[in-house]
Amino acid sequence: MSTVTAQTPVPTEPASSGPLLRVAGLHKTYRLGRVDVPVLHGVDIELGRGEWVAILGASGSGKSTLLHLIGGLDRPDKPSGGRPGATIRFESQDVVAFSHAELNRYRCRDVGFVFQFYHLLPELTVTDNVLLGAMIRLGRFGYMSERAALHETAARLLDAFGLKNRLRHKPAQLSGGERQRVAIARALINDPSLLLADEPTGNLDRKTGAAILDVLAEIRRERGQTMLMVTHDPEIAARADRIVELVDGRVAAQKD
Ligand SMILES: Nc1ncnc2c1ncn2[C@@H]1O[C@H](COP(=O)(O)OP(=O)(O)O)[C@@H](O)[C@H]1O
Ligand SMILES: [Mg+2]
Repeated sequence: MSTVTAQTPVPTEPASSGPLLRVAGLHKTYRLGRVDVPVLHGVDIELGRGEWVAILGASGSGKSTLLHLIGGLDRPDKPSGGRPGATIRFESQDVVAFSHAELNRYRCRDVGFVFQFYHLLPELTVTDNVLLGAMIRLGRFGYMSERAALHETAARLLDAFGLKNRLRHKPAQLSGGERQRVAIARALINDPSLLLADEPTGNLDRKTGAAILDVLAEIRRERGQTMLMVTHDPEIAARADRIVELVDGRVAAQKD
């Protein structure tokens, strides 16, 4: 029942209201030869707009698997034995039902990825690593026509992350923390609604890792970026707005 009074205008629901992401009944089983390896056993997660959520779990609990499924890098189990298939709802779209082309588009446009080991291309400069995502999204001709504006965006992101004087460096000439900041800039070049970070500080010492978490916090504050971050470290998870604990492929407890 509504408690809205005559004095309170009824808010009109914007098209983009409700959670950004809703995951329900997510199961994932890997097949190794003839052996089934069940990893996720019916995970449910909601992610509000602008929310920073940490998935906290021990090594092997299925965190990376979960992130890959949400980011469209892999597919969940199909319905079987009377069990319905998973739902991965992003905005009003059903990621599970996406065609190959739709998945590509989703991965390029809607989602940005940050990985533990950076995954930068060693032969490209810092700037070109950041621009690569835009090249993939726009194709060669589309990219060429927006090149100047994209260069400016890349330079602005890198400047904001303290890399102004590293634009022409190659990844091997950077420290781990600098590499991860390049990877974060790359993840943001296409202005994704959702940033997925898999152990983003896992390869860094504590102080450098804390600086990377400061960068993420700043992005959240400045851009209102929605972020899902995976970690095995409770101290790192505590930086998020909310912690979802994953134990052996199941959501164990939700803490605010
Ligand atoms: N491609 C794969 N094929 C088979 N098993 C896998 C694959 N990827 C992950 N696993 C298994 O799934 C479990 C969960 O892995 P993962 O999602 O990487 O966990 P976490 O990121 O929490 O450490 C592990 O037991 C791992 O060995
Ligand atoms: Mg992992």
